Amino acid sequence: MEQKLGVKIIGTGSYLPPKVLTNKDLEIMVDTSDEWIVTRTGIHERRIVDKNTSTSDIAVKAAREALKNADVDAEEIDAIIVATVTSDYVFPSTACLIQDKIGAVNAAAFDISAACSGFLYSLTIGVAFLKLQNFKKVMIIGAETLSKIADWEDRATCVLFGDGAGAVIIEASDNGSEFLDIFLGAEGNGWDLLSIPAGGSRTPTSIDTVNNKGHYIKMKGNELYKWAVKTMKNLIADSIQRAGITYDDVKYIIPHQVNIRIIDAALKRLKMADDKVVINLDKYGNTSAASIPIALDHLNCAGKINKGDILIFVAFGSGLTLASTIIKW
Ligand code: ACO
Repeated sequence: MEQKLGVKIIGTGSYLPPKVLTNKDLEIMVDTSDEWIVTRTGIHERRIVDKNTSTSDIAVKAAREALKNADVDAEEIDAIIVATVTSDYVFPSTACLIQDKIGAVNAAAFDISAACSGFLYSLTIGVAFLKLQNFKKVMIIGAETLSKIADWEDRATCVLFGDGAGAVIIEASDNGSEFLDIFLGAEGNGWDLLSIPAGGSRTPTSIDTVNNKGHYIKMKGNELYKWAVKTMKNLIADSIQRAGITYDDVKYIIPHQVNIRIIDAALKRLKMADDKVVINLDKYGNTSAASIPIALDHLNCAGKINKGDILIFVAFGSGLTLASTIIKW
């Protein structure tokens, strides 16, 4: 999809659970150190839900913030698209639970499974919906409770992830706001670099899968690292070229908040300064599909985005999936 689309983000919202889990806390739980985690990832702390809180609970809070920010009633929303790998149930979708809780009675509702790229996949579907005249306002949510699928005895993975939710509302616009570039991709041959092996139709849940911890995140970190650096570099360079802009035109880059080393290495290869890059992984860790909308909402609520600003979003994750979007605010 390379054509320019008159689409505007009319509201943003986010929610981070109040409980902070610091690297020092993790030192007590697994054989790790604050120094190792900060040096290898840039993460200092992350937010974690309590055991009674699910993904839809935190998504609803982000959704309500977005409605308030956009000054829109829930009944006006025509579709809710939720990007998550931590849905409340295998089915029904988390989007349907949110639709019910916020009273968006006129909205279609469904989930998208594209892991860390899920928000940008969902945003693209939302933009396409707006091209169909009967969708006027679409809510896109990225929400994760990764603490529920992290193995808290595996130091190689549990230190990376956090919980949170972000939401945006989009509508068609003729005021100059537009999507300058949209790209979605997948490299399914890397499916086993990051997965939850059990609990699906390949290996249904059993006493054995639980005893073997097959219901937790499994990751080949070194291979992912190399792929992520190359992918992020290519996503930024290619999307800027397709949009017909230069790096000087860009106000902010909001990358998936994966790991500061991955982000720094990609920018270094592009010979781009890091002063345009929005980072919050130090405070929230990797929140998968939620990381970009949370960062966007914090920028927006701080009044740091002005009309006409150009923002680049880039994401990559399990699947493998990859995505980039350039918008003119
Ligand atoms: N604390 C202390 N030591 C640790 C920890 C920890 N939390 N985790 C691993 N180690 C140890 C390892 O056991 C290993 O020890 P050994 O040499 O005695 O065997 C040593 O540290 C080095 O391990 P590596 O895995 O080689 O460490 P690396 O420098 O590659 O960093 C990391 C690991 C941070 C996971 C890195 O590979 C990475 O960032 N990968 C990208 C994956 C990622 O971020 N995934 C998130 C989701 S993917 C996505 O969103 C695209």
